Amino acid sequence: MKVLVIGSGGREHALAWKLSQSPRAERVFVAPGNAGTAEDAENVDLSPLDFAGILRFVKENEIGLTVVGPEAPLVAGITEAFQEEKQRIFGPSRAAAQLEGSKHFCKKLLRHADVPTADFRAFQSREAARTYLQEREESPVVVKADGLAAGKGVFVCRGRAEALDAVDRVANPDEFGEAGHRIIIEERLDGEEASVLAISDGRTLVALPAAQDHKRAFDGDQGPNTGGMGAYSPTPFVTDEIMQFVQEQILVPTVHAMKRSRHPFRGVLYAGIMLTHQGPKVLEYNVRFGDPECQPLLMRCKGDLLTVLEAATDGRLDEIEPPEWDPRPSVCVVMASEGYPGSYEKGLPIRGLSEANQLEDVKVFHAGTALQDGQVVASGGRVLGVTAVGNTISAAKLAAYSAVKLIRWPGAWCRKDISDKALNVL
Ligand code: AMP
Ligand code: GLY
Repeated sequence: MKVLVIGSGGREHALAWKLSQSPRAERVFVAPGNAGTAEDAENVDLSPLDFAGILRFVKENEIGLTVVGPEAPLVAGITEAFQEEKQRIFGPSRAAAQLEGSKHFCKKLLRHADVPTADFRAFQSREAARTYLQEREESPVVVKADGLAAGKGVFVCRGRAEALDAVDRVANPDEFGEAGHRIIIEERLDGEEASVLAISDGRTLVALPAAQDHKRAFDGDQGPNTGGMGAYSPTPFVTDEIMQFVQEQILVPTVHAMKRSRHPFRGVLYAGIMLTHQGPKVLEYNVRFGDPECQPLLMRCKGDLLTVLEAATDGRLDEIEPPEWDPRPSVCVVMASEGYPGSYEKGLPIRGLSEANQLEDVKVFHAGTALQDGQVVASGGRVLGVTAVGNTISAAKLAAYSAVKLIRWPGAWCRKDISDKALNVL
């Protein structure tokens, strides 16, 4: 079967790499892809939001399954566009993607399904949100824009003054536009964060091992928020007992609630979890694989991903064996451009990629890279996801950083402490 992956980041490189290992994958295409996917698969120069162009390509090339990486095409309705043309696509419908596309939708569903999450209030005007903050007792809150804001629409506030500022920013149409039309104010939770992803066909689900992301730019979780500077799996913070709780009290009730609301969730349900003293609570849902969590997870996946994604697409996940996982941990270190998450230079040639890839149990996933005159250059903020497996988390970390040391371009940097949190609990 021919497969098409939509997107161009590290997640999509990992998906294309893993899918192309399936004995049933005849050819794997990526639209638009990056320099890494050009090596492990075939790039197609189409934007993820060009549904007409993508559908034309799918029909002309008889693509058997399309797998969507990022959230934007899902929230914009790519799944419905495919279904109208009777083409198979792995990813939730626009209505189901509201779990990520609207924090208000998500919070209402969680409340309704009795899934543990922070208490919240939603406001349709800046004034109402401000009045609420001024009239209630001062306590730590989080202010969020309702809609998609590329990870920038969340303000974790220390006190009332910060919260009032955050409300002003979220409500400012120049900053958040449509996304800030509704303002969510929720109780601030404390604890360790983890990501638990599951593949669902709308009725049942297969949970993947837990992972932990590192969202802040600098070591020790300092500095600005980013798309994620590294991840590892499994994480000792999510014990078997916690995993069972997350499945039974969080993921399963969510899938059932979506089904009852007539928007069955088919795709990757990614729960951002806070492990609080009162137990795990949902911070947010995403409706796709995490980036970079996807990279260490797929490094450990021993099953045939194509079979699993197809079964989920066709609503028969209960008929297949869940994939097996390498018991060895994996660590992914993101190498970024100087200036990220702010502005950065593009077009700088990257050296040492093949040396790094030759190391045992290492795979360098590309994120923001491009080919220029046959040379791989940095073309994004997050450039590479250097991923390794090892017998222990420390060994996997050492292997990943040994590969990082071989790769260079002017201004390249990474966090030095990816996975260290795990060592503190072991
Ligand atoms: P979200 O996009 O909703 O996941 O929020 C992004 C990040 O903000 C999360 O990964 C958390 O670090 C933080 N966050 C979101 N909601 C809360 C909350 N209720 N309490 C504490 N931190 C939060
Ligand atoms: N790693 C966070 C995300 O994919 O949203």
